[in-house]
Amino acid sequence: MHLTQHEEDLLESDNDAVRKAMELLVKLGDIYGAEEMIEIESAQASGISYKSIGDPGVEFLEGFAEEGAEASVPTFANPAGMDFERWEELGIDEAFAEKQKRIRDALKEMGIVLSFTCTPYLAGNLPRRGQHVAWAESSAVSFVNSVVGAKTNREGGPSALAAAITGRTPRYGLHLEENRQPTFRIDVEANIESQADFAALGSWTGRLVEDGKPYFTGINSGGTDDLKALGAAMAATGAVALHFVEGVTTEMEPPENVETATFGEGELQAEYEELTTADDPELVVIGCPHCSPEEIQDVAATVEGKTLSSDLWVCTSASVKTWADRNGLTETIEAAGGKVLADTCNVVSPIEELGYESSATDSAKAATYLPGFCNQDVAFNDKEALLAEVTE
Ligand code: F3S
Repeated sequence: MHLTQHEEDLLESDNDAVRKAMELLVKLGDIYGAEEMIEIESAQASGISYKSIGDPGVEFLEGFAEEGAEASVPTFANPAGMDFERWEELGIDEAFAEKQKRIRDALKEMGIVLSFTCTPYLAGNLPRRGQHVAWAESSAVSFVNSVVGAKTNREGGPSALAAAITGRTPRYGLHLEENRQPTFRIDVEANIESQADFAALGSWTGRLVEDGKPYFTGINSGGTDDLKALGAAMAATGAVALHFVEGVTTEMEPPENVETATFGEGELQAEYEELTTADDPELVVIGCPHCSPEEIQDVAATVEGKTLSSDLWVCTSASVKTWADRNGLTETIEAAGGKVLADTCNVVSPIEELGYESSATDSAKAATYLPGFCNQDVAFNDKEALLAEVTE
């Protein structure tokens, strides 16, 4: 791989963390046949929850910070295992909290923005079309590639961190225009109306196309929240990092000579059933990926003046939560018995240790991970239906 003089210097750096980061990127580039590095505008680090990375992860991050690791481009952190202000109230174990705080402190030492969100594009890190970035959270990768038009591969935790430190990533995969073409066509004949419908379409498609790049026809509208639900689901059941929605995210003509499948009403209903294993959830969670202001507004309007018969978590970033606090939405939701939480979500927090055995979600990504990662039975439905079930 051709390296610039500056990149050669990074490879020979006296700073152990910089040298290791550059070595990792060069190895990655060699594996994928990259001819050069590319400068990035931002990075996004995953592997932030103590539940996900455990003691080896804490030690690695602390050690890397001590060696002089420092982000050289704006780098946002994925969700942590707890809300840093409300963990005690939620019943999170003190030993877990202590480890999670050590992770936070190591990230801070590395100059990583303590955003703790999987929707950084709603919380101050919105790339521009065509920019190269190195993001790791799969749902955010899908969103910035497909909706925003920025370019990132689906980074792992270490490669995103290495990119953050060096400000570079090898030029391969989705950084190359020739790799950003549809490989599969999905003709949607079902009526896709709710955000959960988009999520169900996504989980069905991800399973079918795996790491392909689907092009959807037949979806005539789709807002930011719908598209983040679609992308998150495909990234969970498959490894989709780029998709196209005709007339919504792309003006490109439908691809020809690619594999084609049809998603009809039967597939839509079957997908709801596939994702549902519980009918009496103890905890309803909205906000996978983390809620936008509009989603919090919807929840507040639905529960206003009512009383919840189960627990409700509304998960979002600290910055969107501040907005919800200021606009009285947190107060409305909490008056009904819910909680608006920052920094975390029900998948990366230890909900199984808080006593929950069954959860409800409008996210196909959460519905996919909750059984295996959190020992949960799951009810999957759109948020209006889920909230209607538990409000009096
Ligand atoms: Fe985000 Fe947690 Fe879902 S990290 S995408 S809310 S599983």
